Amino acid sequence: MTLLPSIEHSIQIPYQLRVLFTENAFAPDNSLLLDLLDPQGVGFRSKVAFYLDEGVAQASPGLVEQIESYCQKHKDALDLRGISLLPAGEAIKNTSSYLRKIYEEIEDWKICRHSYVIAIGGGALLDAVGFAAATAHRGIRHIRFPTTTLGQGDAGVGVKNGVNYLGKKNFVGTFAPPFAVVNDFAFLKTLPEKHLRNGFIEAIKVALVRDAAFFDWIEINADSLIRSEAQAVQELVHRSAQLHVQHIATSGDPFELGSARPLDFGHWAAHKLEQLSDFRLSHGEAVAIGIALDTLYSLKKGFLDHPSASRILFLIRRLGFATYAKEIEQKSANDENAVIAGLEEFREHLGGMLTITLLTGIGSRIEVHEMDTDIILESIGELPRG
Ligand SMILES: NC(=O)c1ccc[n+]([C@@H]2O[C@H](COP(=O)([O-])OP(=O)(O)OC[C@H]3O[C@@H](n4cnc5c(N)ncnc54)[C@H](O)[C@@H]3O)[C@@H](O)[C@H]2O)c1
Ligand SMILES: [Zn+2]
Repeated sequence: MTLLPSIEHSIQIPYQLRVLFTENAFAPDNSLLLDLLDPQGVGFRSKVAFYLDEGVAQASPGLVEQIESYCQKHKDALDLRGISLLPAGEAIKNTSSYLRKIYEEIEDWKICRHSYVIAIGGGALLDAVGFAAATAHRGIRHIRFPTTTLGQGDAGVGVKNGVNYLGKKNFVGTFAPPFAVVNDFAFLKTLPEKHLRNGFIEAIKVALVRDAAFFDWIEINADSLIRSEAQAVQELVHRSAQLHVQHIATSGDPFELGSARPLDFGHWAAHKLEQLSDFRLSHGEAVAIGIALDTLYSLKKGFLDHPSASRILFLIRRLGFATYAKEIEQKSANDENAVIAGLEEFREHLGGMLTITLLTGIGSRIEVHEMDTDIILESIGELPRG
């Protein structure tokens, strides 16, 4: 029997990752959104559906009306199909009925693959709406408007989305680059201090694994950041977004096919802590503890020098983060430390071999494939408390 030759073609899909910066995107004369949807100005009318974080809507009374009147004023370019409010925070990622609601609205509003789903909110809302948009009709263009520092500098500018399922963070999700990300700094004015701070820790994280000069900048500007000074916060967000996007675009593994995940430095423990605390600990608070733990571990393994470790722990605490939470000592059913048991879940989440990023200095890293339980426990014991 003659075997027929196999057929093989490579398919290349160029993606453009763009993060635009503005203030008051829905002020009547702000043309950013219009330019984005119709860059040649040919007069194309786009269907748009808005998804709004209830927390953001509450903090900015009149936002819904502002979007409606913006769309009305620019009705030749924007065909507003609907504005939907969704619950704030992790709740939206934990409950599948919200996904159903989004899919039903996409259907009712006749949102197609040439329309736009525009999500405005914290990282959790962006993750859930991004997932619905990426899967409805096998992928509708979506535009993210992150409204938190964490979203504008990290969660909102990446290519991932997802919801929590089977008790696991981001168990269901896709890699789907957004059509665009719009960082509107006006939203940060209403962000509670606790959430404002969360973006600082992801900035420290990306500085630690990629950019020593940025770490120095955060140290120098710590007082301005603590005082929530707009200029410092905006510069931190801009630099953090730039480093995150640069990493995704140039690391050679945008869709995380390998197991190394430097942007997840400090996250193996953090994901478990969020879950063990029933999300009492926010993502940022958990990451602060995770970074402190992996810093001490890097020190104890001899990768990192003492002065660098002290600088890192000091900066985390100076920016107002705790470096300890009781959940880090919680025991699992078989009397193991529950966070350490989470290493296996992290391996599953990465796929393949366990790969943990550790520090060899501020701005430089190493990947390891095993973690020493006794040294993790010693590091937990030495986490600064109080
Ligand atoms: N997709 C990714 O690559 C990625 C990366 C990092 C984190 N994440 C996810 O992001 C989520 C955390 O996101 P987050 O820190 O933005 O928090 P969040 O989405 O949980 O929002 C926090 C709270 O702040 C409120 N809020 C948001 N913006 C506001 C504003 N401008 N004014 C007043 N209140 C406002 C929200 O209503 C909510 O109550 C987690 O689910 C995490 O897993 C995703
Ligand atoms: Zn994170």
